[in-house]
Amino acid sequence: MKQTDINILMKEDVWSLIGKEWMLITAGNIDSFNTMTASWGGIGWLWNKPVAFLFIRPERYTHGFVENNDDLTLSFLPEQYREALKVCGTLSGRDCNKVEKAGLTPLKLNSPSHISFDESRLCLVCRKLFKVPMTEDSFIDKEVLARWYNSNPGGSLHDIYVVEILEAWNKE
Ligand SMILES: Cc1cc2nc3c(=O)[nH]c(=O)nc-3n(C[C@H](O)[C@H](O)[C@H](O)COP(=O)(O)O)c2cc1C
Repeated sequence: MKQTDINILMKEDVWSLIGKEWMLITAGNIDSFNTMTASWGGIGWLWNKPVAFLFIRPERYTHGFVENNDDLTLSFLPEQYREALKVCGTLSGRDCNKVEKAGLTPLKLNSPSHISFDESRLCLVCRKLFKVPMTEDSFIDKEVLARWYNSNPGGSLHDIYVVEILEAWNKE
């Protein structure tokens, strides 16, 4: 992959990029990292910076890596890797080497803590700016709380992260 201008995002359908294409959130370094699939989030503009909004449940193994590192990457893979994304979205790195099971090849970008995959078509290198845990009383529409949290005792409220998009990498 090669570094490119982050304005490459102007050519992306950011509506579909996270919600439909899905992404891998990866944090750590080449010797110790974890990745997970995410389809909730957004890309936008905040504090005069290009940002992404991520929603990560604290019980995810990836959460610890995100907490312990300043930076993380968001990797987007072509449709042919949908199964790999399903593997990374159902298995936990706590229990197995899911990257290997998914058939993905880790790729170090220009820093030891910027990890993507050979299979990515686009990778955004990001730096954490802000984190806030969701609280029950923050939900204005309690039906959302009931639908996604209270009726799912195994799933805790997400932590919300705002990350600055520092770099974009692609294959062209
Ligand atoms: C399509 C899809 C989207 C997902 N989106 C999110 C998300 O936005 N936030 C989240 O916390 N978990 C999300 N998950 C669940 C995690 O990817 C899943 O729990 C994963 O196994 C966590 O791996 P880890 O324990 O190695 O971090 C998603 C799973 C799938 C299949």
